[in-house]
Amino acid sequence: MPQISDKNDVPARLPAHVAFIMDGNGRWAKARGLNRVEGHLRGAQTVTKIVEAAFRLGIKTVTLYAFSTENRSRPSDEIDALMRLLCVFVAEQLPTILEKGIRLRVIGDTSWLPADAAEAVRGAVERSRGNTAATLVVALNYSSRDEVLRAAAAFARDVASGHLPAGTPPSWEKFASYLDTAEIPDPDLIVRTSGELRLSNFLMLQGAYSELYFCETLWPDFSEDDLKKALADYASRERRFGKTGDQLKA
Ligand code: FPP
Repeated sequence: MPQISDKNDVPARLPAHVAFIMDGNGRWAKARGLNRVEGHLRGAQTVTKIVEAAFRLGIKTVTLYAFSTENRSRPSDEIDALMRLLCVFVAEQLPTILEKGIRLRVIGDTSWLPADAAEAVRGAVERSRGNTAATLVVALNYSSRDEVLRAAAAFARDVASGHLPAGTPPSWEKFASYLDTAEIPDPDLIVRTSGELRLSNFLMLQGAYSELYFCETLWPDFSEDDLKKALADYASRERRFGKTGDQLKA
């Protein structure tokens, strides 16, 4: 576990990887009589703030559930706005990402993305490929079920072509190398804002042993203090990974 010592309000036992289900943008906007897109705009500002804080506090990997495969059924003006926000985010944040040595990864089926968004993301991923200080993962047109179907199809293709031996059941490690998250460590902590208590098709396999944290705060209002509360809650948990408490102490 990464340790940080210079911040006495942050617990010593930090999760290495925190994944966020950024929920509540629409409700935040509705409560103010605003268009849903205004909520996403404010949500994008929260993204910048929380990602900066998370890396500053010593978290090594941050994953953001920015757009699910199910979100494709939203009104087209909302989808267009989200894609524009993504392009703006990448354009505005890339210099900082490169300066701080952060690697950008994208999970999800990017073949669906509009050409300009796909190109912006592809370029940023490519330019940050060699970075090792921290990793920012953005889930775009992602869902766990879609990821598993694509991974299984790729795995089957490799068996059919003789690239993988037929008839041997794959280990989890082998199969996981076909997932979008290959080489990304599993999330230690999954945070969902806005009071909803579900995972919504997000990192369902990678989150098998993640600690879950739910809070009422709507994503646009989620602050560094809220993040620290989530981290403190995480630090108070005993993670057993299916073992007994006594086994862990041994
Ligand atoms: C869920 O809230 C949020 C989304 C579907 C989009 C999340 C996108 C952002 C936070 C901004 C863009 C992201 C990046 C990485 C720049 P909701 O709209 O379902 O809220 P509701 O449940 O209150 O309607």
